[in-house]
Amino acid sequence: MKKIVIAIDGYSSCGKSTMAKDLAREVGYIYVDTGAMYRAVTLFAMRNNLFDSEGNVEAERLEQLMPQVQIAFKLNAETGRPEVCLNGEVVEREIRSLEVSQHVSPVAALPFVRAKLVEQQQAMGREKGIVMDGRDIGTVVFPNAELKIFVTATAQIRAMRRYKELQAKGMPADFDDILKNVEERDYIDTHRATSPLRQADDALVLDNSNLTIAEQKQWLMKRFEERTK
Ligand code: DC
Repeated sequence: MKKIVIAIDGYSSCGKSTMAKDLAREVGYIYVDTGAMYRAVTLFAMRNNLFDSEGNVEAERLEQLMPQVQIAFKLNAETGRPEVCLNGEVVEREIRSLEVSQHVSPVAALPFVRAKLVEQQQAMGREKGIVMDGRDIGTVVFPNAELKIFVTATAQIRAMRRYKELQAKGMPADFDDILKNVEERDYIDTHRATSPLRQADDALVLDNSNLTIAEQKQWLMKRFEERTK
């Protein structure tokens, strides 16, 4: 069976990473969560006090410090899942906090951040056999990907999913704050100047507002089989 590149893009909290992870495991591909990479750079900026009280990032200072930012994925031997590392430290839990979610959009809008991460992402996909999720995978990172999926669901449903996820992990969560954050990120992600979130012309749309995980998985496997025949 030929190996392909699978690009999964869509709005925040629409279950992209769960479906991408499952698909990768099922078909034996490498999974890359590019949102985790932008979140790790954001955590770095937060730890270096590069945000003012309004949430603006000191772009010039971050650009100077970028050579010190090394992002990598390490396989967790217990769970078998890749975890993101910032300069060698596993930061998988820290990057999922609401605080990082609230600071990530301005960082992901910076062209020098995107250039560095996109280059690293393209290198990861050179051998194919990869499932990558994000916002610009089918449009910028892999415009020639053999299978492109654009995932969407209503903001309310997405906020509820993230709320339950944080609660399950015992992390503080307020539904209204999360909904506001989801809506704000939708706006910034679709309106930023560099690589805004948009559906690639040749992407297949998957609205999973009313789909179960099992139904979604079945749909995805069918698309995968069509493209790898
Ligand atoms: O998928 P996520 O919520 O973990 O992504 C975090 C943020 O990073 C999100 O606000 C948009 C940004 N992002 C991006 O701009 N490009 C990507 N390829 C992935 C994520």
